[in-house]
Amino acid sequence: MICLTLSSKTLAGCCDEIRRNRDYIDIAELRLDLLDEKEALDAKQFPTMTDVPVILTFRRVSDGGKCSLSERARKQILLSALDGDFAYVDIEEDVKKNEVEAKARERGIRIIRSFHDFDGVPEDIYSRIHKLIERGDVAKAAVTPHSIQDVLTLFRIADELKGIPKIIVGMGEWGIPLRILYARAGSLLTFACDGEPIAPGQISARELKLLYRADKVDDRTAIYGIIGNPVLHTSSPAIHNPGFHAINYNAIYLPFLVDNIRHFFTLAEYLRMRGFSVTIPFKKDVLMYLGNITREVKQIGSCNTVIRVPGMWKGMNTDYYGFLHPILKDIESGRISTALVIGAGGASQAIVWALRNRGVKVTILNRTLSRAESLATLNLCEYDTLENARKYEGQVDLIVQTTSVGLYPDFDANPIEGFVFSGKEIVYDIIYKPRMTKLLRVAEAAGCTLHYGEEMLLEQGKLQFELFTGYHYPNDADYSAFA
Ligand code: ATR
Repeated sequence: MICLTLSSKTLAGCCDEIRRNRDYIDIAELRLDLLDEKEALDAKQFPTMTDVPVILTFRRVSDGGKCSLSERARKQILLSALDGDFAYVDIEEDVKKNEVEAKARERGIRIIRSFHDFDGVPEDIYSRIHKLIERGDVAKAAVTPHSIQDVLTLFRIADELKGIPKIIVGMGEWGIPLRILYARAGSLLTFACDGEPIAPGQISARELKLLYRADKVDDRTAIYGIIGNPVLHTSSPAIHNPGFHAINYNAIYLPFLVDNIRHFFTLAEYLRMRGFSVTIPFKKDVLMYLGNITREVKQIGSCNTVIRVPGMWKGMNTDYYGFLHPILKDIESGRISTALVIGAGGASQAIVWALRNRGVKVTILNRTLSRAESLATLNLCEYDTLENARKYEGQVDLIVQTTSVGLYPDFDANPIEGFVFSGKEIVYDIIYKPRMTKLLRVAEAAGCTLHYGEEMLLEQGKLQFELFTGYHYPNDADYSAFA
């Protein structure tokens, strides 16, 4: 079940939240501590105001909530609310046998027994969940993983507790895989927010339902993902998930924040993942874990696509293809025969290799000359410092921008400030957020032909999809809805 945590201050506001999310959720959680005091006193009416089952929760400050009343006062309000037809009531682990529990039992309201840990994953989590289930119908553990190893521990514990009705929540950004793969972890439900997340790691009900189809995950679902650090801003799930949906493939693609690549490979094997994308800063680090790599990976020295083949992981690179795709016709026709590549980092490596592989004459410009020099030596190119950019005005057919200068939120940064375009150049910025960088704005004003980072992103993703699934990326996949 997808459970919407209601965050309005009034019961009417909570009903609006449910209405907005009605197509995406199965259940809602009414948090009395988030309501205005007067409204909380009327909470018993709430189940009659909506058509979804409701969990009743009154969270104390010590458990991450807002209720600072005495235990006695909190109990009184909960008791009065239990006159309403709630589906569940959440009672914290340390609350002793009490009238709230007795009243819930009497009224047939199921009990969720919960504990929260905002510091980490407690070592005794397994036995604590076991104890909780002796005192309630469902055990809930909301804990805070801080590493990919913690995420693996939580999936393992979840498997060991198979058959026990439970909810395991991974709070914070490390916990995202547990929130999305809640069904794989055997959790009864996952908590979702309305619209934009309020805290890191929260995912909207709409995304869980429409983008990830998290409630459809079962034991046969093939799991794919993207690893990086940071990774949560990635648009790749918006490419792959609609693609899987369009070809009717029982598969899911989700982001994994990673700190230790070896631990991630253990998790990938544990979850029997079929493949994953690799982004900054792991495109090189991943190489030593691969049993097989393609010629491109070997020559470029970086890998952005990993798939499972019998007995090993195989690494491929679709970045170079994604980059070339939008300009390939112009290279083949001879319209592009010379290029200026700005930057000599990881992204530039694949781009320089792709251009040289197609016979384009390349000059690399970089702030740090030594990096430009080594990349140029490897690929038989010219090189120079960024400061000399104006020397190349009117000299090249293609200008490619590969640095992070101009990336969101630096809308007004341009690595070749003052460069004068003739208007005949093709200018390609691989940044995709924002779509229109400062460099592209200047080039457009001069009449240049533009190419955007989102073209490269989409094309590398489509080829990756083919490597993952064996099918062409479907034409009718709606990848724009969540991009
Ligand atoms: P990526 O994998 O995204 O290419 P990277 O390997 O860290 O990341 O490379 C970043 C590129 O952006 C480099 O070419 C870097 O120049 P240096 O080699 O001189 O560091 C370039 N870059 C980053 N910030 C820059 C800035 N403020 N001005 C100019 N170039 C910059």
